[in-house]
Amino acid sequence: MKKTFLSRLSDLTKVKDRANFADMEQKIKKHKYGSDAFMNILESRYSCHAFNHYPVSASKLEMILEAGRMAPSAKNMQPVRIWVVKSEEALAKLHQVHPCYGAPVVLIVGCRNEEAWVRPYDGINAAKTDAAIVLTHLMLTATDAGLANMWIWDFNPSQIREVLPETRDHGIYGMLAIGHPAADEGKPTELHEQRKPLEELVIEL
Ligand SMILES: Cc1cc2nc3c(=O)[nH]c(=O)nc-3n(C[C@H](O)[C@H](O)[C@H](O)COP(=O)(O)O)c2cc1C
Repeated sequence: MKKTFLSRLSDLTKVKDRANFADMEQKIKKHKYGSDAFMNILESRYSCHAFNHYPVSASKLEMILEAGRMAPSAKNMQPVRIWVVKSEEALAKLHQVHPCYGAPVVLIVGCRNEEAWVRPYDGINAAKTDAAIVLTHLMLTATDAGLANMWIWDFNPSQIREVLPETRDHGIYGMLAIGHPAADEGKPTELHEQRKPLEELVIEL
């Protein structure tokens, strides 16, 4: 019984085929808590590799940043900072080291180890975990606001610090490009469809 349920859920993770599973989804619905709206956000998010020049409204950006502020952090230490790159001047500086897929807004997320909680048992510093949570809040809220987005990690942090010295007292954790998708190249890639089945991801003990 448990296995059947897991494999049904696993089928649902094949986003492309979702329409074919409407019936199954109906059956599973009775097991779900929470809102379908949240699952819709998770399902509609994808990594956008090309943006057009259409701007991000100030009110949407404000909502996204507020979602970043609401993120939890270990012991509530809040070691994270967000730099908003949207002026022509700041984007031009950033583009010297990363084109950011042409997004009109890029949020740089950084953190300071010195401001984060350190787990006493093994000395692990929570700063990067806290930064990942903030970035995830930003990413999902951007999706909810109808904006395409892209989590960028493939960059050299010291180059970012060089062109944007305001960031230099923090570790640069990652960047989120936000905007509207370019007509063709802004669509999801084939990687978006590829997820391990739930049976492989989840180990029941
Ligand atoms: C931590 C992290 C870092 C990533 N960095 C990059 C990146 O620098 N460049 C890139 O093209 N994609 C990057 N991605 C996007 C992933 O490749 C993408 O999430 C994955 O292939 C699944 O596709 P999807 O996001 O469309 O579902 C990153 C994603 C995450 C979560």
